[in-house]
Amino acid sequence: MREQVHVFAPGSVGNLGPGLDILGLAIGGLGDAVRARRTAGRGIVVEEAGDPSLPTDPSRHASAIAAHAVLRAAGADFGLALRLEKGLPLSGGQGGSASSAVAGAVAANLLLDQPLPVEALLLAALESETVLSGRHADNIAPILLGGLVLIRSLDPLDVLRLPVPEGLLVVLAHPDRKLNTRDGRAALPREVSRDTALHQAAQVAAIVAAAYSGDLALLGRSIDDRIAEPARAPLLDGFLAAKRAALAAGALGCSISGSGPTAFAIVGSERQGEAVGAAMRRAYTEAEVSATIRVAAPDLIGARAL
Ligand code: HSE
Repeated sequence: MREQVHVFAPGSVGNLGPGLDILGLAIGGLGDAVRARRTAGRGIVVEEAGDPSLPTDPSRHASAIAAHAVLRAAGADFGLALRLEKGLPLSGGQGGSASSAVAGAVAANLLLDQPLPVEALLLAALESETVLSGRHADNIAPILLGGLVLIRSLDPLDVLRLPVPEGLLVVLAHPDRKLNTRDGRAALPREVSRDTALHQAAQVAAIVAAAYSGDLALLGRSIDDRIAEPARAPLLDGFLAAKRAALAAGALGCSISGSGPTAFAIVGSERQGEAVGAAMRRAYTEAEVSATIRVAAPDLIGARAL
């Protein structure tokens, strides 16, 4: 039986444009990692919160909430000491809290005598998201499973892993700003018109078609979000200029990653990614926002033990 584990979980682009709360893509490169150790007591102790601004209170810490939910679901008779290594930006729109939650859930699971099925891990991570940022699975599902995931239903939980088109690369432009998900969600409209709802549904359907056909151009032009993006763009200095610059530089599509402030663009090659990233950086600089750019491939594996 394992006494300790070290688990890595990637970040993600929630929504993938029009799929508000229902589509997400795991992104390679940066991620959060949790070291978990079994302890004799029943509770969870957060020994390292991952950042001075994150709480050590286990009822407010993403990894601890999810790990606790796993132990509770399994009826475990031990506790855990957790150390979070935070690789993703805080309140950055790259699935950071979801990554911490999934890493906590997977770490706790690996320390059980009889591990729980994947659905139980999703529910455990969803518990954390619900407490900390709002009930949505579009970050936790791809982070746990890898690749591109559609959340068909939350009640009951039904998530579908979609194929990831060959050659897909994502440019992430992370402005030096923070927007916590709760504030980003508060900006969302409570109602939308029928035309908007139907247009949005068509974009999500087209993304699913693009995933199966491997059509990157279709995927790119379906990144057309008329619900969240118009509501959130005013909160994100430089975003609209960066999007215009990305599309002018050859991006196939561009929108807000999760609730922002990170912007993402879809490209089909490293060279295109570099050009698009440089154009986005220039646009942010002109808006007096400094931005960190990276070009990343999708993470097809999801959370894993190191
Ligand atoms: N789907 C969520 C939102 C993602 O847009 O609020 C948050 O990262």
